[in-house]
Amino acid sequence: WWADERSRGTPEAAAVAKAAETLRTTDVPVAFPTETVYGLGADATRSDAVQGIYKAKQRPSDNPLIVHVDSLDMLQRILNPSEETYPDAAASEQSLIPPIYQPLIAKFWPGPLTIILPNPPNSVLAKEVTSNLSTFGVRMPSSPFARLLIHVADRPLAAPSANASTKPSPTAAQHVYHDLNGRIDLILDGGPCGVGVESTVVDGLSNPPAILRPGGVGLEELRQCPGWENVVIGYHDGSLDVKEAPRAPGMKYRHYSPRAKVVLFEPGSNPESVANRVRKDLQNSAVGAHNIGIVRTRNWGKYLGLNKGYESSERTREELETKKALDLFKMPVEDACSGSPKTILKEVYDYPLGSDVESIARGLFSALRTLDSIGVEIIYVEGIADDEGDLSAAVMNRLRKAAEAEIKA
Ligand code: TXA
Ligand code: MG
Repeated sequence: WWADERSRGTPEAAAVAKAAETLRTTDVPVAFPTETVYGLGADATRSDAVQGIYKAKQRPSDNPLIVHVDSLDMLQRILNPSEETYPDAAASEQSLIPPIYQPLIAKFWPGPLTIILPNPPNSVLAKEVTSNLSTFGVRMPSSPFARLLIHVADRPLAAPSANASTKPSPTAAQHVYHDLNGRIDLILDGGPCGVGVESTVVDGLSNPPAILRPGGVGLEELRQCPGWENVVIGYHDGSLDVKEAPRAPGMKYRHYSPRAKVVLFEPGSNPESVANRVRKDLQNSAVGAHNIGIVRTRNWGKYLGLNKGYESSERTREELETKKALDLFKMPVEDACSGSPKTILKEVYDYPLGSDVESIARGLFSALRTLDSIGVEIIYVEGIADDEGDLSAAVMNRLRKAAEAEIKA
């Protein structure tokens, strides 16, 4: 597209050219779409530029960033800066990419998979990218928009998710604008992200290899690759009884949290126990009035009679505001102190994510952000089973990090 005469002078081409120029010549990061979430990119070879990311995000700098490349050739140039080009890089004898990664690269790149590689001694990467680790994480995004930007900038881009630190990751340009307006100059708007959760981070340098962060590529898909049959889970999020410190430094921080309190229900929880929990929350509340949000996935809609073939992952604030409160939650509750009944709910906003795991992942962060923008105080979320070997592990991982309470009813 970029090479095509007809693209010249189009607004899209001008936007990409401007973004690439900003990346090359300034220290202000540029937000850009990827298939997972929006990234906040900077030239990974310049310290000042990378520091600009930490500044804009207000992110702790002990958390290393993922490097994004447009080609295997660009990756080989990071691994051996003295060579000019690497024909047929992945397959070639002189490839510097450890063989364990070859099947993953063949199968999942470009796509939502980040691999950990040794950082060469004479590395071109700014030290702020790796936070002084001896390794770096790298991926080739499948978004053509992202790869075009990297290609035109002709630099590997360090990019975390383009949210303010601790907020839900941005899956639309508006989310980036909301968090970073005034802190950055340019957002490339490529529409909503297709995957909706971040890339899977894997470490093939350890034996056995490990998943450091669940994400867009599922466990079962990984296990089908030679050398990855016995991949272990190297992260913990409360789903597993792992005592080790997290190996991906980013995994120890509170994350993905909207302003509202998030209460996560284990999959299969009955709406009656949800109602009980709501009643209890309200009785204990000094305020006595709440707007609440219900983010539902597979079962609640059925029980509540709301699942009339409706499947959607992108709801707007306006759409939600025209939706009726669910009667189930309109029951009067007794005031914990006086014992007198009071009706305390103002509105219940119903946010269905659909039931297939792809639409749940795609809509998750957007749901939390939309409900936040309406001003709900508590968001009740219907969890899903996370042992299917697919995107569900990433969905539940993000939810566990966003939630203040997890209910196993
Ligand atoms: O989908 C994604 O990966 C998005 C988009 C923008 O590409 N990026 C993203 O980056 O999620 P970030 O910075 O939010 O998350 C990077 C994760 C963190 O958990 C970090 O600790 C881990 O990758 N990581 C990066 N380099 C690492 C390394 N050398 N060793 C272990 N973990 C590393
Ligand atoms: Mg992030």
